[in-house]
Amino acid sequence: MPTKFSSILVLLFAVLSASLSFGAFADATRGKTLYESRCVGCHSVDQNRVGPLHRGVVGRKAGSVKDYDYSSALKASKIVWDVALLQKWLTNPEALIPGQRMGYSVDEAKDRLDLAEYLATLK
Ligand code: HEC
Repeated sequence: MPTKFSSILVLLFAVLSASLSFGAFADATRGKTLYESRCVGCHSVDQNRVGPLHRGVVGRKAGSVKDYDYSSALKASKIVWDVALLQKWLTNPEALIPGQRMGYSVDEAKDRLDLAEYLATLK
């Protein structure tokens, strides 16, 4: 029976990984839609506006986009953005970096996760 058992395992694994990767894809896609409705009033992917541009934000030091005039709080912070910290930031920017200047937050945890996953795709 080992052959039958291992083919069942292979099948299970295929189903599981297909649903996992579909899930991740769906999240970032949903995040893009959220971004377009909630963030573009102040941000864009490739241009500084009221807020700094977002391309490359994951892995970047907070407050480091060239030619954007950050608050001194954000500039002085030692944060390097990752998906977890972006979710914290979106929960309550002022709690993460007191003295910052983004007057906006996102109430729903799922929305914050999808937004952060979308930002991570902006390489
Ligand atoms: C009302 C305007 C406004 C809205 C809406 C807004 N932001 Fe911001 N955001 C800012 C400002 C201003 C800053 C700079 C803050 C500072 O210098 O302290 C900022 C900074 C940031 C940063 C830090 C970037 C860096 O280079 O360190 C991230 C990440 C961010 N915003 C994400 C978002 C996301 C995601 C959304 C949508 C859910 C959003 N923001 C909505 C105004 C806004």
